[in-house]
Amino acid sequence: MTSNTVITPAKNTIITATAVIDSQALLENYQLIKSLAPNCKILAVLKANGYGHGLARIAKLLSDSLLTEEYSADAFGVARLDEALSLRAAGIVQPIVLLEGVFNQADLPIVAVNDLQIVVHDQEQLDAIIHMPAEKLLHKQLKVWLKIDTGMHRLGIETADFDYFYQQLKSSNNVQTPIVLMSHLACADDKNDDSTTKQLALFEQLTGHLDEPKSCANSAGICAWQQSHYDWLRPGLMLYGVSPLLNADNNSHNSAQALAIKPVMTLQASLIAIRQIKAGEKVGYGANWQATKNTTIGVVAIGYGDGYPRHANNNTPVLINNRIVPLVGRVAMDMITVDLGVDSTDKIGDIATLWGKNLPVEVIAKHATTIAYELLCNIKPRVQITVS
Ligand SMILES: Cc1ncc(COP(=O)(O)O)c(C=O)c1O
Repeated sequence: MTSNTVITPAKNTIITATAVIDSQALLENYQLIKSLAPNCKILAVLKANGYGHGLARIAKLLSDSLLTEEYSADAFGVARLDEALSLRAAGIVQPIVLLEGVFNQADLPIVAVNDLQIVVHDQEQLDAIIHMPAEKLLHKQLKVWLKIDTGMHRLGIETADFDYFYQQLKSSNNVQTPIVLMSHLACADDKNDDSTTKQLALFEQLTGHLDEPKSCANSAGICAWQQSHYDWLRPGLMLYGVSPLLNADNNSHNSAQALAIKPVMTLQASLIAIRQIKAGEKVGYGANWQATKNTTIGVVAIGYGDGYPRHANNNTPVLINNRIVPLVGRVAMDMITVDLGVDSTDKIGDIATLWGKNLPVEVIAKHATTIAYELLCNIKPRVQITVS
């Protein structure tokens, strides 16, 4: 090489929509939950593809045989039989609970063979269990969680029917003891809503005298309602580092930062084009954003085809080169446009963070008039996943 050889700097590598999964953050969130209720067992909720983070991926991270007990989940919760079976196929051996139970009696032998646990929330499910010939269950007894409707009025048996359901299950040879008694909280995200107090009082009135394991707390219950903790916690959202409480999008004591949980998913993509526009020019489909002064527009390789919300409004924050810039113009299938400002020095290939580390998904949800749960679950299969 001669001294006047010109070395062209390597071009920034471009990444399309990529979700970086921070395994350490997941383990720390898990440990934090454990520290809030050291005597409780934890059922980690993994439904909807692990809230978009990957069903088997999250289960494996929380069940690795190398993990000490403080990081290893006591059980996993899913909504559908298929989700449970794919966990078993991935080699997960922990208890798995079907949080809505089975929808057909024919699924009960599959439940028994795969050592799954089932919620019972209505008469059909009770009948299916108690009338099932024991040989069809290979004489295995089913592990059951009896769900009581204490006020949410979605799933769960009526409080007036509790004794009947409990006795029927107790006296069935198809059912193993103990039976976990559970309920679900409708408004636990709001510390000032007294319906949680009422739900918990009703639950206590029905079950307080029974020596069975109990479970009422989702993430919001864990954070805000200590009296809901009982024996089994059922965290979903907070496990992924997202605040389950109301108004978590600002820097209040309800934010993830204040709760000391860390985002597990950081969603990123590169700038793939940069252009100068003049005051008065419009950007994107429908030309619904107009520059008020000369500026620089950056195009980021992510859109609603990846799960970025199409209804994110102008001004939704995007993090690029350690500063927040506003989304401008409509979100398209594969791209969004941002206002980098007239003095921008950003380059093609620079990475934009759409949510995650240093930009809570709770904030983006507010700008898209939705909730963080929906944004996470909407991550599409074409998004690259990397685990750090
Ligand atoms: C029965 C049950 N328990 C726990 C959870 C977890 O809730 P969260 O993600 O709010 O912690 C859910 C989720 O909807 C649920 O349906």
